[in-house]
This record gives sequence, structure tokens and C-alpha cells, in this order.
Amino acid sequence: MRESIAENGIMGGLKNKRVLVVGGSSGLGLMVSRLARGRGAEVVIASRTASDRHEELAEAVGAGIETVSLDVTSEEDVESGLERVGNIDHMVVATRPPLSPALFVEADLDQARQAFETKFWGQCRLIRQAHGRLAPDGSIVLTSGIAGERIYAGNFAMSVINSATETLCRALAVELAPVRINAVSPGFVAPKPPDVEARARRFPAGRVASAEEVVKAYIHLMESPYVTGTTLVVDGGARLV
Ligand SMILES: NC(=O)c1ccc[n+]([C@@H]2O[C@H](COP(=O)([O-])OP(=O)(O)OC[C@H]3O[C@@H](n4cnc5c(N)ncnc54)[C@H](OP(=O)(O)O)[C@@H]3O)[C@@H](O)[C@H]2O)c1
Repeated sequence: MRESIAENGIMGGLKNKRVLVVGGSSGLGLMVSRLARGRGAEVVIASRTASDRHEELAEAVGAGIETVSLDVTSEEDVESGLERVGNIDHMVVATRPPLSPALFVEADLDQARQAFETKFWGQCRLIRQAHGRLAPDGSIVLTSGIAGERIYAGNFAMSVINSATETLCRALAVELAPVRINAVSPGFVAPKPPDVEARARRFPAGRVASAEEVVKAYIHLMESPYVTGTTLVVDGGARLV
């Protein structure tokens, strides 16, 4: 009894929960997979290359993980991929769109549109296919990013995608209830080039974040039954300076 309260009690722990991590083959998603597996979750990693890299990912995350290959820009891939995954308790989305920084007047708008297709519309496709498979006490955690709040020249597309993601999260918290939906807004996550590391010394936290520091926020949101429609900013105060 004491053990179950500690692991899965009022904080809705992850032990034996089925957690799908889309974009779990690299970066923040890979770290979410590792931390969730370490907390006893059944982890399913989805990305374009996840199944082809099953052995490597099982080594990085832990034995017993499942992998599913899907491309979030394809409706058919998302539908058949989610069918293979089956019922889940939580879904995390941490896909990174292809996007090079560019000033608005010089930017390749086709590339910006493609970034929307991957990050914004990709998560919409996933949510529409997943919501009927999510446990009523389950949740979705999306990924926005500090560019949604703090404007950096040359990042208009990512700024708009991230703030749209945060608004989507608030809108769907009402429509998908009782399933909860939240977002994490990471700031600058290591490794970063020396100029960014230098700029980060001015942040209140005085440095860039480790992936693990950011990913604790995803775990917190999955485990917190009273939090929905919220964006948790993990930026070391970068947006303030
Ligand atoms: N890292 C940062 O400093 C930072 C800061 C702020 C916000 N963010 C946000 O955090 C998210 C994750 O960033 P990250 O740096 O962790 O990214 P990452 O290391 O590049 O990983 C991206 C993941 O997305 C998957 N992916 C990309 N396109 C996909 C597609 N079409 N269909 C399915 N999966 C796809 C990749 O796997 P495959 O190649 O196998 O498909 C990979 O697993 C992004 O949304 C980013 O905007 C990151």
C-alpha cells in the first residue's frame, strides 16, 4: 500500500503505465523515454527511424521498449502506427521540424510550411488518432519552446509554431477532458555552440540546461493529475533577459 502510494498514488506515477514518445529516438524525446522507463513505464518510441534502430534504442533506454516507425507528416503512417501501438496512458510529442533560421523577408516559406506540417500539424494528427486510445486518467504532453514567448530575430516560424502549440494545448484541455493536455517549453538545451553557451551566462540560471533538467518537466506533467492546459517553461529565466 505504502509502495503503491509512493509510486502511483496521488501523484499518478508512471509504474506500469504505457507511454508513447513520438520523437523519442533522439534529444529530449530520448531522455523522456529513459526517465519514464526508469520509473517503471512501458515505453513505446515512435519516429521515422525508430524500428530500424530498435537495438540501439533498447540499449540507450532499457530492455523491453517497443519501437514503431512512422512519419508524422503522413496521415496513413500516423493512423497505422497508432493502431499498432494500441491503448496508452500517456503520449509525449517531441518531434523537431526541419527549419533553418532566416529573417522573415528572406525566408523560404516552403520550408516554414514544412516545419508547420511536421511540428504543428504532426501533433494534431497524432492527437486525433490517439485520443480514443488514451486512458481517461491519461495525458498528452506537447513540446513548444522559448521562441514562442521570447522573440529572437530569424526565428519567426518557430515562434509562431510554438505559440500555436501552447494555444492548441489550452483549447484541447477543454475539448479532450478528462484526458489532460500540457506542454513543456524548453529554453536552450546542451549541447549548444560556444556563442550560445556564452549568451546563456547572462540568464538567471547562468548556463544552458541539460536534457535531463528539461525532461523532468514532462515527467511532472504526466504525473500531476490536476494539471491541464498548462505550458511549463524550463528556460533558466532566458525569457526574462
Ligand atoms: N533542443 C533544444 O535546445 C530545444 C529548445 C527549445 C525547443 N525545443 C523543441 O523540442 C523538440 C525536440 O527537440 P530536440 O532537440 O530534442 O530534437 P531532435 O534531437 O532533433 O529529435 C527530434 C526527434 O523527432 C523525430 N522526427 C523528426 N521528424 C519526424 C517526423 N516527420 N515524423 C516522426 N518523427 C520525426 C526524430 O526522429 P527520426 O529522425 O527517426 O524521425 C527525433 O526522434 C522540438 O520540437 C524543438 O523545437 C528544443
